[in-house]
Amino acid sequence: MNRQPFANEPFTDFSLDENKKAFLAALAKVKEQLGQDYPLHIGSEKILTEEKIVSMNPGDTGQVIGRVSKASQELAEKAMQVALEKFESWQRVPPLERAEYLFKAAARMRERKHEFSALMVLEAGKNWAEADADTAEAIDFMEFYAREVIRLSETNIHSPLVKIPQEDNCLSYIPLGGGVVIPPWNFPLAICVGMTTAAIGSGNTVLLKPASPTPVIAHQFVALMEEIGLPAGVLNFIPGNSSEIGDFLVTHPKTRFISFTGSKEVGLRINKLAAETAKGQIWIKRVIAEMGGKDGIVVDETADLDAAAASIVGSAFGFQGQKCSAASRAIIVESVYEQMVQKIVELVSKLRVGPADENAPVGPVVDQAAYNRILDYIEVGKREGRLLIGGQKAEGNGYYIQPTVIADVDPKARIMQEEIFGPVLAVAKAKDYQEAIDIYNDTEFGLTGSFYSTDEARIAYATDRMHCGNLYINRKCTGALVGVHPFGGFNMSGTDSKAGGHDYLLLFTQAKVTSRKK
Ligand code: NAD
Ligand code: ALA
Repeated sequence: MNRQPFANEPFTDFSLDENKKAFLAALAKVKEQLGQDYPLHIGSEKILTEEKIVSMNPGDTGQVIGRVSKASQELAEKAMQVALEKFESWQRVPPLERAEYLFKAAARMRERKHEFSALMVLEAGKNWAEADADTAEAIDFMEFYAREVIRLSETNIHSPLVKIPQEDNCLSYIPLGGGVVIPPWNFPLAICVGMTTAAIGSGNTVLLKPASPTPVIAHQFVALMEEIGLPAGVLNFIPGNSSEIGDFLVTHPKTRFISFTGSKEVGLRINKLAAETAKGQIWIKRVIAEMGGKDGIVVDETADLDAAAASIVGSAFGFQGQKCSAASRAIIVESVYEQMVQKIVELVSKLRVGPADENAPVGPVVDQAAYNRILDYIEVGKREGRLLIGGQKAEGNGYYIQPTVIADVDPKARIMQEEIFGPVLAVAKAKDYQEAIDIYNDTEFGLTGSFYSTDEARIAYATDRMHCGNLYINRKCTGALVGVHPFGGFNMSGTDSKAGGHDYLLLFTQAKVTSRKK
């Protein structure tokens, strides 16, 4: 079948009445289904266990989203055996056929788009547009990776090896084996879907361990893959305690790869554990680890200040600052510093905090632990700088925190260095754009950054010097699009896997060269 070239899934325009109505209907439908029990999926078995992860609405702390069964080590081992056995046949399924499952899943998710988004509104506290973008990205990943599976299978046509007269030579990308996929909760659909479908599309089998705050949306994705006919055992769903099954799977001798997205601390732990060779292990485990960020926006005196302020506020407070790409630092040259600070505060003062299902611009943070940690950071920030706005919890029956801006912060201060992962923006002053860029680079991370200027020479300087995996000029530092902005960071932000790019599937494959004498 001839496919159209990849194009990003359009976002829903919620200013249109019909879209608003359709989304409200999806929210009502999802609300009716709350509180159910969800099983593990191991091969063709669905297993309900006694112990459950109880997923709660962070914006309405009494509301149970669902109870998801937890895998023990024994069940994780069973899932590993199933994945290994299934790999024997799945690796030989032709790439075109494997890609077809991804295309089918994308089409089915598109049909049920609002339902997936509505569930994220309730389970993760995303407002409508954030949830809609998450689902769109999930669809994009499947559409993009399906095409990549096909492209890689045709590599000898597109990039033939150098010819020699006495041999025929051919390179093919073959899958790795059974691997573990460990996604974060903050893009509970998109990243979970992207990591998983890249792996299975490439011919691997997967044990998916979802993030504990958002296991129901991960389950719904697994159920969708089953609905579209993905053979049993290719994708196994094993939620559970990280302490119990996380280390167990990472250190398992048969684990061939670990695809992780999450915090620096957990990523480094996984990297370290995976580097140790277990008894019976016959390969070096492949670790793909995308981790945290301390992203920032640099503004010079030639910039469009209104546009810069809007971008800073959008990038800092979208989804309550809970994006690896969020701008948690603004670094502004001194000649426009006070002007910029005023503009930022004015925009932040207009942000309403409230429930995500009511589509408030700023919703709750994900759970009690995040809430406590962010409020602690705000107290640290009050000592490290000048509190301009916010600075405390917000009203509501959930984990609501006021969008907070703290100015005059030293570049070495904790709130300029450590990932807070919440609605907190630190603002620092620089004497000129060069010093501002030095401050931007002065963290252990390197994920996203933006530079605002109208001076071409300075833009060229920033393009060369700002050390991050995703650099944006005169636009916000969040909202990477699949295929358009392959995504991944430098330094402690991870292995720079560039999810949504043409290199990504190579991470889930190994290249085999076959040479045949003529
Ligand atoms: P986290 O590190 O707490 O958890 C990530 C995943 O790892 C979860 O599924 C969790 O259950 C699992 N996990 C925890 N301990 C484990 C262990 N010992 N063994 C195996 N698995 C274990 O991160 P989070 O709170 O879910 O997500 C937020 C973090 O993710 C932030 O730091 C954010 O910047 C980062 N993130 C990065 C990217 C990126 O592309 N770089 C994208 C999204 C989020
Ligand atoms: N891909 C997400 C963004 O760019 C993390 O905001």
